[in-house]
Amino acid sequence: AAIPMITIDGPTASGKGTIAHRVAQALGWSVLDSGALYRLAALAVLDGGIDPGDEAAVARAAQDLDVRFDAGCIWMGGVDVAARIREEQVGNLASKIAAYAPLRQALLDRQRAFRRAPGLVADGRDMGTVVFPDAPLKIFLVADVQARAQRRCKQLKEKGFSANLADLLQDMRERDARDRNRANAPLAAAPDARTIDSSNLSVDATVKQVLDLWSSLG
Ligand code: C5P
Repeated sequence: AAIPMITIDGPTASGKGTIAHRVAQALGWSVLDSGALYRLAALAVLDGGIDPGDEAAVARAAQDLDVRFDAGCIWMGGVDVAARIREEQVGNLASKIAAYAPLRQALLDRQRAFRRAPGLVADGRDMGTVVFPDAPLKIFLVADVQARAQRRCKQLKEKGFSANLADLLQDMRERDARDRNRANAPLAAAPDARTIDSSNLSVDATVKQVLDLWSSLG
């Protein structure tokens, strides 16, 4: 039988990462943060002096990524880059190169390799539509853009970064539009996905909805 798994897709800052980790913890499963792979590819492009417009070169950089995920650390070439891939510049480039078909292709097998017993929770934009189309439970996690920008603003301030709500809103709208309108693996709910709107839901309540849906599958 196929290894159990849950996909969680949705727009930027919809809470996918937090929910994925909490659900995985509750089930004793592992997590795939697919966005981190796009960010790692972007970092490799920046650090490697690769032309970000050269689709083939960007895909090669992704293919060659030497990366290991380990308890919150992300080791790339012997250095923990977990903090660096969250930088604005890296996220922005990730969102742009994510439109490249060769890059998405290069990351497919790497993502699928995360599916190991006893189970996997995978979060991203195309987990349910492209990478794991046979997943038995697919969640499309949405929240209105105001709620998402406010959450991101709070998060950044807690980490000691400066943040401006208006800038975040605009940035989020641009990223969402790029993700939704691209030709390759656009952000979209799979036909069999269950949509959860977390605008007015706590993390606990959202996690419970996902776990209840999983239990109801028997
Ligand atoms: O989720 P996160 O913001 O870390 O992802 C970084 C970028 O990678 C996103 O802006 C999105 O364009 C891209 N991405 C994607 N497909 C995924 C995950 C992320 O295109 N499955």
